[in-house]
Amino acid sequence: MSRRIIPLADVSAIPDFSGGVSSPSGLLTDTLARPLRDLRISVTDRCNFRCVYCMPREVFDKNYQFLPHSALLSFEEIERLARVFVAHGVEKIRLTGGEPLLRKNIEFLIERLALLRTPEGRPLDVTLTTNGSLLARKAQSLKDAGLTRVTVSLDALDDALFRRMNDADFAVADVLDGIAAAQAVGLAPVKVNMVVKRGTNDQEIVPMARHFKGSGAVLRFIEYMDVGASNGWNMSEVLPSAQVVERIAEYFPLAPLEAHTAAETAQRWGYRDGSGEIGVISSVTRAFCGSCTRARLSTEGKLYLCLFATAGHDLRGLIRGGASDEAVATAIARIWEARGDRYSQLRGSASAVSREDGPRVEMSYIGG
Ligand code: GTP
Ligand code: 5AD
Ligand code: SF4
Ligand code: SF4
Repeated sequence: MSRRIIPLADVSAIPDFSGGVSSPSGLLTDTLARPLRDLRISVTDRCNFRCVYCMPREVFDKNYQFLPHSALLSFEEIERLARVFVAHGVEKIRLTGGEPLLRKNIEFLIERLALLRTPEGRPLDVTLTTNGSLLARKAQSLKDAGLTRVTVSLDALDDALFRRMNDADFAVADVLDGIAAAQAVGLAPVKVNMVVKRGTNDQEIVPMARHFKGSGAVLRFIEYMDVGASNGWNMSEVLPSAQVVERIAEYFPLAPLEAHTAAETAQRWGYRDGSGEIGVISSVTRAFCGSCTRARLSTEGKLYLCLFATAGHDLRGLIRGGASDEAVATAIARIWEARGDRYSQLRGSASAVSREDGPRVEMSYIGG
């Protein structure tokens, strides 16, 4: 059988220091005046699920070469980089994957990150996106390590459909147990993310809303995105969020809620009967690049400036080459100051990233 290996993205240069070193001020902005506030760190490229839209089994099969352990950033390296990012203004760290709970002793990393403080002395929001399969077992130790809250992906309540979508025979009940355990230990508010694929799971929108209404968990519907290079995305499979809201409102009246922050990905809607809220994340029909404050650190330590980037900047090479914290801070500053990425806003237009720029990085590698 031939090997199908997705070439990992090219490497962008680390800027030189001819402009002198810059001390972090927390006031960095990119070319579109967007500050750096969120850091999403992928701690493993492996996952025990094979969601059809993310790690399709035809590509991520037994011949797929995942990264060797030595390629991954160590916890010490992650903490060191995170500290520099925090000095530059990062206030929220999200651990992702792959499936972050597959990374051995992830609690040790969380403990270290939870001790970091912003320049004003505030603790960070340290959170994690998981498929929930190991959450029932791990919720307490994650909480004890200092995790603030958790986001769980769940695409259907119907067990047969859920098993088809994760393509690894995991049961819905395990994920629901994980969500309940997270709520019980106070990893709150738990957010539940459902990727909506028209024709695959859109019939689950109302049952999911009904299930989580009044539960304290915040259900968010995500438009299926053209991220990565292997999911065979097609616009006809995107169900616009406006229709998601309409469908739910037919059963449970909704009213728009104010955004918590300008950089929020989700638009919030509250149930008129006061029994909680839902969110819709409309990166296809209503791009939110204008307020995108997110940087992504890949499993092997490359800094990506956009979910749809084709190349990242090799911070691992920099630190393994002996760079000082000052040099790392300067490199991050120069990279962020040069950032102009806004893929979702440009999608479909001539100036958008095209396939000729090389394959887009996979979401399991860069982190959702
Ligand atoms: P919180 O609301 O603070 O919990 O975080 P968040 O809104 O960033 O949510 P989360 O990390 O759960 O992201 C939800 C989903 O939104 C992801 O799985 C992606 O599908 C999508 N998403 C998140 N960040 C971006 C982004 O920068 N660009 C695009 N296009 N989509 C994003
Ligand atoms: N479109 C939208 N969301 C996606 N995710 C993964 N792939 C896609 C895609 N193509 C989401 C998952 C999970 C997070 C890690 O990213 O559902 O919530
Ligand atoms: Fe794994 Fe999440 Fe990707 Fe599904 S979406 S394959 S759970 S990383
Ligand atoms: Fe940010 Fe890129 Fe997503 Fe736009 S497409 S919101 S720039 S990550």
